[in-house]
Amino acid sequence: MPTRLTVRSASAGDHDDILDLVRDAFSVDGQDGQAEITIVADTWASGLIPTGFELVAIEDDKVVGHVLAALGDLGGKQIPGIAPLAVSPSRQRTGIGSALMFELLNRAELAGFPLVVLLGSPDYYSRFGFEPSGPLHITYRPVGDNPAFQAYRLPGYDHSMQGEFTYCWESGLG
Ligand SMILES: CC(C)(COP(=O)(O)OP(=O)(O)OC[C@H]1O[C@@H](n2cnc3c(N)ncnc32)[C@H](O)[C@@H]1OP(=O)(O)O)[C@@H](O)C(=O)NCCC(=O)NCCS
Repeated sequence: MPTRLTVRSASAGDHDDILDLVRDAFSVDGQDGQAEITIVADTWASGLIPTGFELVAIEDDKVVGHVLAALGDLGGKQIPGIAPLAVSPSRQRTGIGSALMFELLNRAELAGFPLVVLLGSPDYYSRFGFEPSGPLHITYRPVGDNPAFQAYRLPGYDHSMQGEFTYCWESGLG
């Protein structure tokens, strides 16, 4: 029987499964996933996750995907930054990452945010409408002018949204 994919808001009861998934997904190329685990834990501790901005993908009652966004600072405005997006290695390339991203972007638009940012592969995120943030005068100091730092403009966007972005775990906002 084909497995059915569900995407829903995460809850505290999912935390152990999320940490296992994030570690598995990022344990590639000699990495152990600890950097991403720390980002997730620090983001949970920040209290800056807008309601509904942490999602899990479920197949056969198992957490097979996760995405997290929290409020960072962009020139004094609170803007969601996505980090991380992870899909269980055995279930990658089956549309789960896309399902999570589309749902999160939809929720960001419904919540009235003007912009969402992230750091990742432009080859992957351009398919959702992300663009390098540099030409929008949005910077992320740790990567300089690397096009991997990207922005997704929503209907409320205007050119006043400029400056240096800091994630919640970097800015001490929490
Ligand atoms: C990156 C990731 C989230 C994508 O999720 P997914 O469910 O595998 O992706 P989807 O099934 O929605 O999309 C598959 C497409 O994305 C492409 N893709 C997957 N990972 C990619 C990457 N890192 N860079 C570029 N393209 C990528 C695939 O080639 C495929 O392309 P196609 O549609 O042209 O065939 C997942 O592979 C993952 O968890 N990777 C390990 C952790 C990670 O790197 N997270 C992202 C950090 S930026």
